[in-house]
Amino acid sequence: MKTALITGASSGIGETFARELASRKTDLVLVARSQEKLEKLATELSSKYQVKTEVIVKDLTEVTAGQAVFDAVQAKGLTIDLLINNAGFGDYGAFSDRPLSKQMTMVQLNITAVVELTGLFLPLMQQRSNGAIINLSSIAGFQPIPYMSVYAATKAFILNFSEALWAENKDRGVRILAVCPGPTESEFYDRADFPDSATGLNGMTMASAEKVVQEALKALDKGQSTVVAGGFANQVIVNLPRLVPRDLLVSVVGKQFKNI
Ligand SMILES: NC(=O)c1ccc[n+]([C@@H]2O[C@H](COP(=O)([O-])OP(=O)(O)OC[C@H]3O[C@@H](n4cnc5c(N)ncnc54)[C@H](OP(=O)(O)O)[C@@H]3O)[C@@H](O)[C@H]2O)c1
Repeated sequence: MKTALITGASSGIGETFARELASRKTDLVLVARSQEKLEKLATELSSKYQVKTEVIVKDLTEVTAGQAVFDAVQAKGLTIDLLINNAGFGDYGAFSDRPLSKQMTMVQLNITAVVELTGLFLPLMQQRSNGAIINLSSIAGFQPIPYMSVYAATKAFILNFSEALWAENKDRGVRILAVCPGPTESEFYDRADFPDSATGLNGMTMASAEKVVQEALKALDKGQSTVVAGGFANQVIVNLPRLVPRDLLVSVVGKQFKNI
């Protein structure tokens, strides 16, 4: 039986990873802040699929939160075969109009916690020549996004970090995958303070979290470094920037996001 640790497992894409992996008979360690939601999910999945589930309640924006999660896993005597760094959030609005504390917290969750957890679990996977890490980037990681500047930059970091680690580890038995979804149904847009009119993001349809998770797990099986998940339109969005001068690109994207 394999064990997966999923951060941000209390809703959206993380919860969907938990449901899918449990159905594939994977034991789970579920991490987020919402204790009640995590415990309800853990109880449901362990009785439905006869898998072992553990809950670690942690705010991953706390300094050394990753170390605390790692220590809790060690104390339980668990071996993590699959680490899914999924917890993350965004924020909509001009950088200087938005609370700086929210941007700093975002960097802590979207980047620092991912680097810390990866740095702690990866060496154990390398020792066993076995294991995998999935990091949630986004199609937002392929170009700058005015009015979501910090968020897009955190996802560019995750994309670059993950692809570099993929190359470092592909001959060491450890798979690394950057998952880059487009707009996906979850609590993300509410938490990011998107205006109500943003539903559908300028006419873009939202993919289901199930579709994103299926595509991610398929890409992991194939040993890919990156997967753009959620539909063909997302492939176009990530490939267009290569052909367009950067000033033009960021101006056009800026107009789109300003008028959401
Ligand atoms: N939805 C999209 O359109 C989309 C597109 C591309 C990429 N993504 C990425 O996909 C990932 C999952 O997002 P989602 O769409 O599933 O959004 P979501 O429904 O809002 O889920 C976010 C998860 O992160 C957890 N989380 C938030 N702050 C946390 C903290 N301080 N400490 C620990 N856990 C925390 C939340 O749990 P608690 O509140 O219980 O802590 C929740 O389980 C994110 O990295 C996001 O950037 C989403």
